[in-house]
Amino acid sequence: MTTSLERNTQHALLENRKILVVDDEEPIRRLIGYLLQTHGYTVTLAADAREARQLLDQEPYALMLCDVNMPGESGMDLVRNILEERPHTAAIMVTGLDSSVLANAALDMGAFGYIVKPFESNEVLIDVANALRRRKLEIENRLHREHLEDIVHTRTMALQQALEWLECREKELRLSREETIQRLAIAAEFRDSSTARHIHRMSHYCELLAKRHGLSPERCDLIRTASPMHDIGKIGTPDHVLLKPGKFTAEEFDVIAQHAEIGYKILSGSDSDLLKVAATIAWTHHERYDGTGYPRKLKGEEIPVEGRIAAIADNFDALTTARVYKPAFDFEHARELMVKERGTHFDPELLDLFLSLEEDLRRIHDHYADTANQNLPEAA
Ligand SMILES: [Fe+2]
Repeated sequence: MTTSLERNTQHALLENRKILVVDDEEPIRRLIGYLLQTHGYTVTLAADAREARQLLDQEPYALMLCDVNMPGESGMDLVRNILEERPHTAAIMVTGLDSSVLANAALDMGAFGYIVKPFESNEVLIDVANALRRRKLEIENRLHREHLEDIVHTRTMALQQALEWLECREKELRLSREETIQRLAIAAEFRDSSTARHIHRMSHYCELLAKRHGLSPERCDLIRTASPMHDIGKIGTPDHVLLKPGKFTAEEFDVIAQHAEIGYKILSGSDSDLLKVAATIAWTHHERYDGTGYPRKLKGEEIPVEGRIAAIADNFDALTTARVYKPAFDFEHARELMVKERGTHFDPELLDLFLSLEEDLRRIHDHYADTANQNLPEAA
């Protein structure tokens, strides 16, 4: 936004008609000064570069007419320097030497004109008028460009702030969604001996395997977020079956097996990709690769990859952590037991990949080890 002070400064800059004439020959200096003054310009005279610099330091000039050959600093050096330091000051070179080389050098340097002595009055007046007109146009262009840049900068900043705000809200929404899912999953897990830490380990094992299997980052994230809901269907399993110590009868097993179907019914039918993946995992995490699992006895790659991944992660965690009916097995023991079911229970390729990730598995296992406050949700 341009302020009134800036507008006044810009107006003064554009309307400036002060001209500095620099020439060591006094008659020429006076002649040019008189000529310009009688045509309405405000003129100041300087005998050499040093005096010219002092005057330029005191106030701004719209135009400098400068002799090329002067004692001390040459007119070319003075003009080159002034054009660099004061882009709002234009320059015309005045010289007794009619040389195209010198004229081109002056124009290349940024001078707006080149007047050869002796000159006609009109020649000086026309060159001065042209130089001032061109200077005004250049300043207007520059101011316009700066104004546009200001607008672009302001709008870019506003857009950036809006994007940051949106990213912040999106992150909040995502975290709150993940926490809600974890708390719901933990509510279901509370009903048996499972723990909140099981939810975290399971979801990170799933994400790890999905990543190493080459699934897209978006799908890996969905699997990590959705997998905690794999046993949500247990909220439909009666206590006398779910909490029964010891082995299940065949009838009881049928009842507990229904948690996969119940979980699917709870989670399916949504347009949300997250709930679709969650429903798939709940429905298929107890299928077995050889087709002897439940609830649908899917076989091999009929079982969605999310379900095959969850089966490995869920069983690995059950083996490597203590449950009421068993102690925690070490990694080697868990590996032996799982390898025995390679190709029967577990997808052989995924199992090999999973068991090759020992270092990462140990890191997740140790990071989310069971503790006294194990049922409190926590950031993943
Ligand atoms: Fe389950």
